[in-house]
Formats: sequence, C-alpha cells, structure tokens
Amino acid sequence: MSVVSQVNKGHRHAVRGSIFHCLRDPGHTGNPEAVEYFEDGLLLIENGHIVECGPAEIALTQLSEDIPITDYSGKLIIPGFIDSHIHYPQTDIIASYGTQLLEWLNKYTFPMEARFGDLNYATGVAEFFLDELLRNGTTTAMVMPTVHPESVDAIFSVAQKRNMRVISGKKLMDRHAPDNLLDTPRVAYDESRALIEKWHKCDRLLYAITPRFAPTSTDKQLSEAGRLAREYPDTYVHSHVAENHEEVAWVAELFPWSRSYLDVYDRFDLLRERSVFAHGIHLNDEDRNRLQQSGAALAFCPTSNTFLGSGLFDLPLNRQRNIRVGLATDVGGGTSFSMLQTLSEAYKVQQLAGNQLPPTQGIYLATLGSAEALYLEDKLGNFLPGKEADFIVLDDQPTPLISRRMQETKTIDEKLFVFMMMGDDRAIYASFIMGECAYERPVINAI
Ligand code: GUN
Ligand code: ZN
Repeated sequence: MSVVSQVNKGHRHAVRGSIFHCLRDPGHTGNPEAVEYFEDGLLLIENGHIVECGPAEIALTQLSEDIPITDYSGKLIIPGFIDSHIHYPQTDIIASYGTQLLEWLNKYTFPMEARFGDLNYATGVAEFFLDELLRNGTTTAMVMPTVHPESVDAIFSVAQKRNMRVISGKKLMDRHAPDNLLDTPRVAYDESRALIEKWHKCDRLLYAITPRFAPTSTDKQLSEAGRLAREYPDTYVHSHVAENHEEVAWVAELFPWSRSYLDVYDRFDLLRERSVFAHGIHLNDEDRNRLQQSGAALAFCPTSNTFLGSGLFDLPLNRQRNIRVGLATDVGGGTSFSMLQTLSEAYKVQQLAGNQLPPTQGIYLATLGSAEALYLEDKLGNFLPGKEADFIVLDDQPTPLISRRMQETKTIDEKLFVFMMMGDDRAIYASFIMGECAYERPVINAI
C-alpha cells in the first residue's frame, strides 16, 4: 500500500472490517490469485471514490488522525452487487403461478405493465423497487421499464435522487402485445431519442435502447433500434434472447431469413459492446462466436430460468469462449431480489449440468463480472483505486442456523459459500452508495 496523504483533504473517510474483492474471474477452479482478502482490512474513500484498499495494520499507520473510520470489524465488506437484468414493473407479479414464458407474459406481465403509463403509479413502484435493491445489497442495476416514457422518467428520477448507477430505457414493442403496450417504429425512435437526450450520462444514469425481444418488434422497428444504436454509439442495447424453446421456434417463424434468434439482432446492428441479452440458454456455436467478436454480453438469470422452466445456462462454455457474462435476478420471472439467493440457484443450475461454481467465482459474477458485462469495470466491481465506492457490509450471523453453520467455516471460501447458499436480504447489514450509507438493516433479534 502506498503512503496515504497526512491531510484530510477532499472528503476522506474509511471503513474497517474483513474485505473481499475480485481482481478477475477466478474461473471454475476458483483461482486464489484472482481475488484479494484482508481479514482485518481498511477501505479509504475520498469524494465517493476508492483511494486505497488493504490491510488495516498498514493503512492505519499512514492515516492522519482526523479521518473518521466506521468500524465493521467482524463483518465482511464486499463490492455492491450489480444486477445485470431486472424488470421494475414486474415487482408486484413476482412468483405468479403455473406458466412458462409466453403464457406468463400474456397472463401476468402485460396486464401489469399496462399500468405504467401513469407517472405517479410508476414512481411509487420505482421507489419501492430501488429500496428493495438496496435492502438486498444491489447498488447498480440494468433495469427494463415498460413501453411508456413515463415509466422511464420514473425509474431514472428516483435513481437520481438516490445517486444510484442505473441503466434503463424505454421498451420498444410494436406487435404481439395488447394495444395499450404498443408503439410504432416512428414513435419508438422519437421517444427513445428524446429520452436519451434527457437522461443518458445525467449524473450516474445511462440509457439502453431496449427492444423487448424479437417477437414484439417488426423488422422496421428493429431497424429503427439499430439506427438509434448507430447514432448513439455509447448507449446500451438491452433485450432478451434464446430463453425458451417455444419462443425460439416462434422467432424462426417470424424471421424466416434469420440464421438464428441472435442473428435477428445481429442483422439490425444490435450486437456490439454494451449490448446485453438476458438468458442466452439455447444458442449455437456461431452465436457464441458472434457474441465474443461483437463484445455483446449475456445476463445469466438462474432463478428465472428454473422458475419459468426455460433451461440450464452453460456458464463454463460461455466463459471459455470469452463471452462477458453478468449475473441477474430477472425479477419478476426471477423469484428473488437477492443476488445471494440468485447465486444459490446458479450453483444448483451448474450442478445439474455437471459443472462447478466456486464461491469466489459466484461473487465475481455478482460484482466484477456483471460490471464487465455492462462495460463498467473501470468504475465498479472491485476496490481498485479510483473506482466508485459502492459497497456492502455482510453479517455472517443473520439467523440462528446461519450463525451455527458459519462457526464451522475455516476459510473465506467456506464463508462465502455459506453466504451464497443460505444468505438473503437478512445478511445485508448495510449498503453504501458513493461512500455514503444508503441502507442500514434494522436491528434484528433473531439470535
Ligand atoms: N422475454 C420477453 N419479455 C420478457 C420478460 O418480461 N421476462 C422474461 N423473463 N423474458 C422475456
Ligand atoms: Zn427479463
């Protein structure tokens, strides 16, 4: 650790506790050199950014005495979770019974999304949603709203008040949905453009051009989406791909000229850096080549994939092919806001396919891996100097059972595995945004 200035210039403060973060993907072998762990660590923050991260005993000798230190000794500090794909308008239909993707969309999702043309209603849900993310230790998310510009204004303005880094953008849908959810290619283009001008790069907010999925857009609308993507090269593209067998067959019928589902997006210039496609379960070899060459990313949504019976995502294959992969809850197809619960399901999905998901790779996926999928690794995902200080504090004694189980752990890997298999919102002790505490768990008297 380099010498820290003796003067408390800027707005310096520090947090102390056990600290874990990833420097790169530990892979399916859990390479220990890809991570850093300080049992007694110190994180020094200035003006919302990381200055230093290292062992407390060294850092403390270099700190001037006027720097306030928040003491979380006995707790674990890690980077904030990054949810690479989630739908805020589906908050209130989470856990809806008995259907797979296409029926689930028609029966539960579309009727709920129709309410989001009302700015007041949308704002109320956005407030609950972002509070729920923070309660679960998620400090950044890529969020799908609805087709209504009001739903985009709602999520961005509430995120802006909380100083959260949120990526979002109006859904483009001009067919195969109820009339009250449809726009046109022209309206989609004009409204997206106006929203990009209004919100993209405003404070921490970023805009995503968002064709919902190929079946709800005509060729003309996808072509307008591609035009927007060319005109605004530093925005995101956000969509779904190859989630469900029936959906894949439908796309082949709707776009008979296409080589594959992914190819539909490719033909309209929607595959590029900062393109994020949720699911990507049913892809072929050429699709994976195109993802890798273009720099587009996949969002792995395990609780959604099992809940909707969609299939098992092949994590090792995609990573071997150097495709960026983020972890995502996909609420309300997904069944939990908790990225810890999401990791538990991710582990089981890998087990069912005969693959391994070590806890360090799990935490990587939920932090730095998602940051890489979103091309935010220069700003988020670990505690390297200069990064934005979004981090969380984990409590290893949130319930009687977890406390007992934790007593049997000897290494940080074992502890992380218990967090990943058994943890949820109760394990989130505090969430920090740009160095400021944005959520503190109320006192629980379980133990
Ligand atoms: N494909 C198109 N729309 C959706 C959605 O809202 N959720 C999921 N899981 N898949 C989709
Ligand atoms: Zn989704």
